[in-house]
Parts: sequence; C-alpha cells; structure tokens
Amino acid sequence: MNLNIALLPGDGVGPEVLAQAVKCLQAVEETFNHNFIYREALVGAIAIDKKGSPLPDKTLQLCKDADAVLFGAIGDPKYDIDPNAKVRPEQGLLKLRKELGLFTNIRPVKVFPTLIENSPLKKEIISGTDFTIYRELTGGIYFGEKKLNEKGTVASDLCEYSEKEISRIAHLAFKAAKNRRNKLTLVDKANVLESSRLWRKVVTKIGESYPEVNLEYLFVDNAAMQIILNPSQFDVILTENMFGDIISDEGSVIGGSIGLLASASVGDDNAMFEPIHGSYSQAKGKDIANPIASILSAAMLLEHFGLFEEAMAVREAVDKSLEKGIMTPDLDAKSQYGTNQVGDFIADNIVDSDDDFNINDENIDLGKSTII
Ligand code: IPM
Ligand code: MN
Repeated sequence: MNLNIALLPGDGVGPEVLAQAVKCLQAVEETFNHNFIYREALVGAIAIDKKGSPLPDKTLQLCKDADAVLFGAIGDPKYDIDPNAKVRPEQGLLKLRKELGLFTNIRPVKVFPTLIENSPLKKEIISGTDFTIYRELTGGIYFGEKKLNEKGTVASDLCEYSEKEISRIAHLAFKAAKNRRNKLTLVDKANVLESSRLWRKVVTKIGESYPEVNLEYLFVDNAAMQIILNPSQFDVILTENMFGDIISDEGSVIGGSIGLLASASVGDDNAMFEPIHGSYSQAKGKDIANPIASILSAAMLLEHFGLFEEAMAVREAVDKSLEKGIMTPDLDAKSQYGTNQVGDFIADNIVDSDDDFNINDENIDLGKSTII
C-alpha cells in the first residue's frame, strides 16, 4: 500500500517519541512491502517561534493533502504560566482538529497483563480492563464562543452542541460497541446541562437502531468514580469533548502510565493519530519519554487503513518489549533503557519477531549502547 503520512513532531518530547513510531512504520514497510512517504511540518510552540503561528498554512495544507497525520505532542510551559498569551500552541492542535473535521477521538484503555503491578490501583480492581472512549472532538466548550469583559473580570465559554454533531459520533460509537461487547455508556451531566440533555435525547433515539447494544447513562462525576472503582464494567464510553479529555487522562492511570495510551482522531475525510499524553517538556531531549503511546498510535493508523496483520506485528513487538522489561523509566524507575532503545527494540522485532536483541550489561555500565 502507498500512504502519504504527514509528520507533526510538535513540542517537548513529541519529536523523540514520533521518531520511534516512524522507525516502526519503516519496519512495517520493509517487512510487508509497503511504501510510505513521510513529510514533516511545524506545529505548536515551535511553529510560533519559527513562523509566528501555531498552525502555519503550509502545515495545514500538508495535512489536508496527506492520507493520515501522525502527531507528536504540543505545549510549552512558557505559555502555561502566561494566561495573557494571545497565541497559544494548543490553538494549533484545536484548529487542526476543526479544519480536518476530526470529530471523533478514539482512546482505548487496556491493561497490559505484564504491567498489572505498575498501576497505582489494586490489581484485582484493574484486571480485565478493556474499554474505549469515544470523545467528541470538534464541538462543545472547546469551540463555543469565548468572552472576557473589558475590565477582564468576567469570562465565559459556551458549550454548544447540535443534533448533527452528536449523531455522527454516536453512530460510530454504537458500531464500535456492536463489534465489541455490546455495551455503550453515555457520560454526561444531564441533571444540570441542557447540552447533555440533548446528548441523551439524540443518543437514545439512535440507540433504537442498534437494539443489540445495551445503552447505559452515567453522570460524569459518577463516571469519574466508577472508572477507578470498577473499570472492567465499561466497554465503549461515549462523551462530549471536555468530559472525554478529563476521563481519558483518568483512564490512563489504570494502565500504569499515560505514556502507553494511543489515540485516533477521525472524520469523514481525514485521520490523525497521536499519543494522549502532552509535551512533557521536563523530559525533552533526555531520552526518557515512553515511545509506546506514539508507536501504538502508528498501529492505530495501520488499522485505519485495514493493515491488521501489520498492526498486530507492531502490537506484538510492543508486548514483547514490556515482557522483556525493555521499557522507559516511567514504567520501571531502575530501567536502563531510553526512548531510542525501546523504539529500536520494537522496530527490530517487527522485522524479525525472533530478534532477541542481546542486552549487553557491560555496555550499560559503560553508558554505551546496550544493543549489540
Ligand atoms: C488532549 C490534550 C488537548 C485537549 C490539549 C493539548 C489542547 O489535552 O489531546 O487530550 O485538551 O484536547
Ligand atoms: Mn487531554
């Protein structure tokens, strides 16, 4: 298959983790005879520094012309501490989502059996967790009208949803539930918010066309509690933009590290794949960031194009790295392995699943490459 992939490394650890995902895609090309073309462009704080805009026109065009976008991370502390900043890196990502029409963000939350001890939660609680969040991505409070009065003392953000915005993602979520365990939980705040009541009405109606799917409703505050108390009860969670943002970070705790969670953002014409973690600027350039979320985002890209065997090869190589303890320090504080080495191991194992990549302890002590 020929694919044009736009690469947006972005900020912080974005470039480092994205490079590992590209290594893995190149391993897939080599092993399965595909031809992927990669074109890189600026986004985020680095794009503001170099071009004065968090999403330069050239970047947007490149993404529109590509078959898929692979995204690194966005954000820089210098903007986080400045509420007066007029231009913010995050605007680049939000505009990209909107312009590409990526209305559905899919975030799978699963526990890797080998990492069950890594979670801060008890293993009897998290074992068997396997759910997917369908987060609406181009509407709601993120995109509603924003106001600040002249004195700068009163502000508001409007949360608006239309029937159409709700129904297009709801259909995708019901279809996903049908292919999984036939359970869909709508997370909202319908006891307080008018927009949530519209979600309930629209989703309930659509549910009639999916009689095999068991539709349940949960208020978001209760959902936040249930995700920690009993995560294995969930199959597909459908929710609006901001609730989805919050509960997906919460969900990432279950697996032991946010560095493991991948996501796909899809619309009618475009698709983008990115880790759910942020730019983690403190780790930038230190070779400690976990590349697995980025690598698994590449696996989701492959699945999106029907390359299931290829995606499976990536997932199996990731499992193997975890089984062998070839992981970054977020998963094992004593780990000797860096971002690059984990990426190399996974890429090598895609090419040859018997590649056991001898680990040379002597070299670890010398601070040299451990891969021989
Ligand atoms: C995410 C991020 C973004 C969001 C930020 C960077 C704008 O937190 O993808 O979850 O809030 O959507
Ligand atoms: Mn988030």
